Amino acid sequence: MENKVVLSGTRPTGALHYGNYFGAVENWVRLQNEYDCYFFVADWHALTTGYEDTSNYKNNISEVVMDLYACGLDIDKCHIFLQSSIKEHAELNLLFSMITPLSWLERCPTYKDMLAQLSDKNIKTHGFLGYPCLQAADILIYKADFVPVGEDQLPHIELTREIARRFNFLYDEVFPEPAPLLTKAKVLPGLDGRKMSKSYGNTIAIKDRGDELNKKIMSMVTDPGRIKKTDPGNPDICSVFAFHKVFNEEEVPSINEYCRAGTIGCVECKRNLLKKVTEYMKPIHERREYIENHPELVREIINKGNEAAKTRTMETMKKVRTAMKIDW
Ligand code: TRP
Ligand code: SF4
Repeated sequence: MENKVVLSGTRPTGALHYGNYFGAVENWVRLQNEYDCYFFVADWHALTTGYEDTSNYKNNISEVVMDLYACGLDIDKCHIFLQSSIKEHAELNLLFSMITPLSWLERCPTYKDMLAQLSDKNIKTHGFLGYPCLQAADILIYKADFVPVGEDQLPHIELTREIARRFNFLYDEVFPEPAPLLTKAKVLPGLDGRKMSKSYGNTIAIKDRGDELNKKIMSMVTDPGRIKKTDPGNPDICSVFAFHKVFNEEEVPSINEYCRAGTIGCVECKRNLLKKVTEYMKPIHERREYIENHPELVREIINKGNEAAKTRTMETMKKVRTAMKIDW
């Protein structure tokens, strides 16, 4: 397993939240012990939908790196790098764009979905349509064996495999076909009960602690049918209960019972949750505070990861140019 390569990326849209942690990063922290892992901040990808306003661009990259560090990624065990530092991604994207039929991009389900969802943004751009091609370059340039992703990203991995096959068929066997690593993500709802998402403003950030965390947990939506403490509640429609399932498994049966019987109040239930979340997150919050007090570490982390990424991508690009006979 040691030399199998794992690669994944995250967009720097700001500080990471619990959805990012339980959906992806928690798994990355495990994977770094088993594989040769490359994790990167996909800042060029963030431009595909956010090119109009780049004022938070640099700050968002720092936030993400601090979060990855806080969550337990260890630069002695994995490589953490910045996409835009490794220009080879752009070169391979360009070459792939020559061999990728437009129809493959147009029929990509995420393309139509996001166009509809982000109808307020002008994303009828070359870059946005071609984003899965860039993602294929991100993955194949490391000759990754496995790509841990959420279900929403599966079409992109499939497209990556198709592009690999097409390249290998047209020129030479350069790229292995990567496989997705689907993780059973623990799903946490947002504070308001909808899916946790930055665009809904209902997230808890990994870095939230103290008063900030207190305020957010105490404002969570519970069973709206419960008015008095003695009203029987339905934990199945309560976000606080969904959180207990992740942070306080032990007490889930009793909370379930007391809630239905109307013998615990929601305020008490939330206070209990706050305590459990605080305990669970303690090591992460301590590391977050440490790196906030040592901001020079952010650059050190990226520089070290960039070096490894650079070495590996230069090697692949040499093979690519030779295979395509553009090594004049
Ligand atoms: N498209 C991914 C997302 O939006 C981010 C990403 C870019 C990625 N390149 C990747 C993920 C390569 C895995 C592998 O979340
Ligand atoms: Fe939710 Fe707890 Fe209130 Fe029940 S008692 S509705 S589980 S907060």
